[in-house]
Amino acid sequence: MLVTESTTPHAVAAMSELAARPRANSLSQIQADAWSRRDARISEINAQWSARLDGATKPPPAKAVEWPAEWPSRRAPPAAVEPVTNAGGSLPPSTSVETILNGRAAGLSDYCATVVKKAGADFAGPMYVVDLGAAERLLEAWRIAFPRIEPRYAVKCFPDSQLIKALSDQGCGFDCASEKEARLALDAGCPPSRIVFANPCKLPADVAFLHASGISLTTFDSIDELDKLRATDCRVLLRIRADDSASRLPFGAKYGCLEGEIAGLIEACADRNIRLCGVAFHVGSGARSPKAFADAVCAAKRVFDLYTTLRPHATPLDVLDVGGGFCGGFSDDGNAAVSASGDCTVVDALNQALTKYFPLAQYPSLQIIAEPGRYFAEASAALCCRVVGSRSRELVSNNNRREERQCWISDGVYGAFNAIVYDGWLPHAVVVGGGGVDGSDALTTVFGPTCDSLDVVFSRVADAPSIRRGDWLLFPCCGAYTSAGACDFNGLPATAYAGVRTRYVRSASMASTDADAELPVIYSDRPPCEVRRYF
Ligand SMILES: Cc1ncc(COP(=O)(O)O)c(C=O)c1O
Repeated sequence: MLVTESTTPHAVAAMSELAARPRANSLSQIQADAWSRRDARISEINAQWSARLDGATKPPPAKAVEWPAEWPSRRAPPAAVEPVTNAGGSLPPSTSVETILNGRAAGLSDYCATVVKKAGADFAGPMYVVDLGAAERLLEAWRIAFPRIEPRYAVKCFPDSQLIKALSDQGCGFDCASEKEARLALDAGCPPSRIVFANPCKLPADVAFLHASGISLTTFDSIDELDKLRATDCRVLLRIRADDSASRLPFGAKYGCLEGEIAGLIEACADRNIRLCGVAFHVGSGARSPKAFADAVCAAKRVFDLYTTLRPHATPLDVLDVGGGFCGGFSDDGNAAVSASGDCTVVDALNQALTKYFPLAQYPSLQIIAEPGRYFAEASAALCCRVVGSRSRELVSNNNRREERQCWISDGVYGAFNAIVYDGWLPHAVVVGGGGVDGSDALTTVFGPTCDSLDVVFSRVADAPSIRRGDWLLFPCCGAYTSAGACDFNGLPATAYAGVRTRYVRSASMASTDADAELPVIYSDRPPCEVRRYF
């Protein structure tokens, strides 16, 4: 605990007593220490409040409560209430795909305007619009950028059945981490041979499912996992640690074996008669460093070589899984690319590393796969939320006054916007039908719908278009790690139920238009909320 000038002598004494104790070595000791630390802090806070309240007028004693003569429960029970369905207001589920001219923000905004108008006044969304055409173009672009690498879409990123079906129909495979994800891929018609079960620590039920489903390729990074896989006929990929420390979500601390563990794991496969068929890595989601991919390919090559040395008579390794971490998008002229900004260094770095360490002539039958999630999902989905309440406040600081326009929308950090907390996402939004910027210097705050005060989507953003109750906000590029982590906290039908309120489109073009350039955008380059610290 931090000792500040205001820390009371009592708290200081409690802390030094704690510091003097021998290090806890039992669970009860650890719990006792945690409680004492908390009690010390609470006593300190109470002492500060008592000191403040001593000078204040004490409130009058509370009046005795008079209970009603007739106890409420004796009254007739209320009439039965219609069950809540979470079915998304008056927008019936639909899997049909509509063609729209343009899948950029202005085109999607026009499309959403017609859908929500038809859905009626009670409909509040949130509603996803998934552009299958965008995902299909991203798949084509992938194949051009990486001719040697077969993509396996990471279902966890946006587990939408129609998106999965569209990709599967075009020959894409899938990375699944659980039975539920694998069933989505299989139900979409994907053969088990195009699925990699890329969870290095599987639940027992998932291991049994693997055995029964015919999916035979999975990852591991520990001997324990091999023991679990003994009863299956899986081929395994050794996940090695690979880190782009600048990525949005590095995985190295959790997954991937260390260099010194590799030989032991190779032997452990042989001892258990489990077929080690290759190497997998993931440099981190939202990777930024092309060198991290090149270094990881080089590290994988070392494993291939070590395997040949240790097991010269075994079937050679024949699969390399370069994981995920790729970002995708559309350039202004509408072309899909691994980097929408036109920066090809990740593509070049990975292709060159493959050519250098795994030349085709030496590895003619090597199968190279990847597990891109964000690449396919991010730009292929947009979210539409309704403004369900608003008010205006005056901010006063150092005699300066400024208006703060606050509004509530139908989804927040317990829904799609959990990505603000878990994925470092900074959303941007446009007002469907176009909200005007009225020249005021008011700041705009947008809250999510739950009662948690942390549930904030934008905090005090300047130059935002004016927003009123009944407006709709469209959040483009919002597929990656949004609905996937949503829940229905407060019983609100957030994006956890998005499946029933998703609309599917196939855009004819993703080229940016003059209308896109004119849209006023709500955007902030700092996150609206952070996880609170209490003690
Ligand atoms: C094993 C594995 N593969 C692939 C992915 C997808 O990563 P990305 O969305 O960065 O491409 C993840 C993300 O968590 C993952 O854990």
